Amino acid sequence: MAYPKLAALSAGMLLAFSAQAAEVEVLHWWTSGGEAKAAGELKKTMEGKGHKWKDFAVAGGGGENAMTALKTRVVSGNPPAAAQIKGPAIQEWGAEGVLASIDDVAKKDKWDTLLPPVVANVMKYKGQYVAAPVNVHRVNWLWVNPTLLKKANAKVPGTIDELFVTMEALKKAGIQPLAYGGQPWQDSTVFESIALGVGGADFYQKAFVKLDQATIKSPTMLKALDTYKKLKPYTDKNAPGREWNLATAMVINGKAAMQFMGDWAKGEFLAAGKVPGKDFLCVAAPGTAKDFTFNIDSFVFFKQPNKDAVKGQQDLATALMSPSFQESFNLNKGSIPARTGLDMSKFDECGKKSSEDFKAAAAGNTLAPSWAHGMAMSSATQGAMFDVISQFWNDDKMTAQQAADKLATAAKTK
Ligand code: BGC
Repeated sequence: MAYPKLAALSAGMLLAFSAQAAEVEVLHWWTSGGEAKAAGELKKTMEGKGHKWKDFAVAGGGGENAMTALKTRVVSGNPPAAAQIKGPAIQEWGAEGVLASIDDVAKKDKWDTLLPPVVANVMKYKGQYVAAPVNVHRVNWLWVNPTLLKKANAKVPGTIDELFVTMEALKKAGIQPLAYGGQPWQDSTVFESIALGVGGADFYQKAFVKLDQATIKSPTMLKALDTYKKLKPYTDKNAPGREWNLATAMVINGKAAMQFMGDWAKGEFLAAGKVPGKDFLCVAAPGTAKDFTFNIDSFVFFKQPNKDAVKGQQDLATALMSPSFQESFNLNKGSIPARTGLDMSKFDECGKKSSEDFKAAAAGNTLAPSWAHGMAMSSATQGAMFDVISQFWNDDKMTAQQAADKLATAAKTK
């Protein structure tokens, strides 16, 4: 029992002890190999500051399970100190009146000068910082096993047409062309990249950011849906329900040639000791070389009942934005730092490419928020759109026209 021992301490000692060592409970869904290594960097940083890290990890790619667990905790009046929440959902939580401002830390550390405005604005609720960004993930990547492509005498695809030529050559050579995980968030992750490749940046913005009804029902959307569905014969029969990291493992282990996935997949390759450019390739999803669908992970802070917890939150916020953390975390996570102006020399060629492409896309106005990763629309709208895309993928009788009509209805979900 700890109580008798604690009772022996003087009140002053207790205060000094607790002021340095808050227990900081953090909700996240980083449980795969690469993700867990990245989360480990965060734990190490907080423990280095004398805090006790309380891991609130809820498995499930894309974070749906984690968000359900979070709601239960907040509703019962017992929120964690911080939680991984992204994009417009930050505003939704802000409106619930449960978030804590970390504006003092942000002002002291000059976050406004360190973050691109497109990132900073998302982190604020009513003008005050309530969240800290840790990275920028790029979603429109294709991960390639070059040995398998070579075996099939197939080319790394740069366009959608080339993609189908490559997949056909792989299939003929008896190689599984695509590693696919049939879960709603993964279905939409793949569809999002295909839609961007088919329709381009303007179409993407109109359809998935502005939710323009005419664009959602346009011939371009029908083409995007049909193209997406044409991938299905190149996936295997065990795809339904497969976790994304198990699909990545297929590419790592030479069981499949390619995977459409954001660059958290790179974390898996690296954790398996694989070398980019040699064991695996990171290339822009076909037809999207000039585009960049971004997905920014951030931690949101919840109001806490005591001062120690608040101190823990402030230290966490400072740590999350520190150059050393943004470097070590992102080297493991597969993403690039959210903070601008950091030295990228330790990053591999995929990281460097991502950083350059991010800047070029920002300058060329082709930066696109990933809707499949909660960057573009309300969580209710996103959920409704997920349902349609997965239904379309799974139901071989559903036509692209029916899917587009359903998407248009889903886009109106409030
Ligand atoms: C998150 C990533 C995470 C991925 C798979 C994405 O939505 O932004 O941090 O690695 O889901 O779980």
